[in-house]
Amino acid sequence: MLKRKNPIIAPSILGADFSILKKEVQLCNNSKAEWLHLDIMDQQFVPNLSFGPALVKSLKKHSDLFFDVHLMVSNPFDMLIPFIESGANGISFHIEATESRFTFPPKILINMIKKNSLKCGIAIKPKTPFSIIKKYLKFIDYVVVMSVEPGFGGQSFIPSTLEKVSEIDNFLKDEKLRDKILIQVDGGIKLENYKDIVNAGGDILVAGSQVFQSDDPIKTIRTMYQK
Ligand code: DX5
Ligand code: ZN
Repeated sequence: MLKRKNPIIAPSILGADFSILKKEVQLCNNSKAEWLHLDIMDQQFVPNLSFGPALVKSLKKHSDLFFDVHLMVSNPFDMLIPFIESGANGISFHIEATESRFTFPPKILINMIKKNSLKCGIAIKPKTPFSIIKKYLKFIDYVVVMSVEPGFGGQSFIPSTLEKVSEIDNFLKDEKLRDKILIQVDGGIKLENYKDIVNAGGDILVAGSQVFQSDDPIKTIRTMYQK
């Protein structure tokens, strides 16, 4: 995916009002947002439950946005086919979920995602060093840098994320991969800090509570598009 001058805003549906989800998605359709972020939680990898592929499939009928599925589940391999069939355009999985000998290695997941013509992302938790995923970079499209502990919306941005984003940005530049791999930053992104994240190298900003709890979500999204 080509790096652009301005960030891509990905509203996170986890921050929306679940009783009017179709309306919330339509609101995003009518905004400048290009991606819609869908957080999948299994109450094992994270201490929370969200929703599954049936809901993603229903929402996809009402939107042409890029559906960005973020798998926060302990066995991502088992979830790939259902989410591919739900209409996801991109899927990210956590590297931490592939470390156990009971799960599939990252390369198998990447191959399955790419074979189905989806974009592939690898997510890392705040305490996970970037170095762990270096060997997979040439096979993927985006890195998801968690800027909160995964599991819940509405948390505060962890400031040290900025250094991690810069480190990844510099590494990608040195390796001549900067044009091919985007950096997604997920969690705690607000109107007060989004510019710092973009300046550090963030390309895709995931924002849940800031977008859906603001008085004018469309305006909030438009503002975040400006550097
Ligand atoms: C956290 C999720 C985030 C969350 C972001 O586990 O991965 O995508 O929805 O929500 P805010 O923007 O409210 O931190
Ligand atoms: Zn997420």
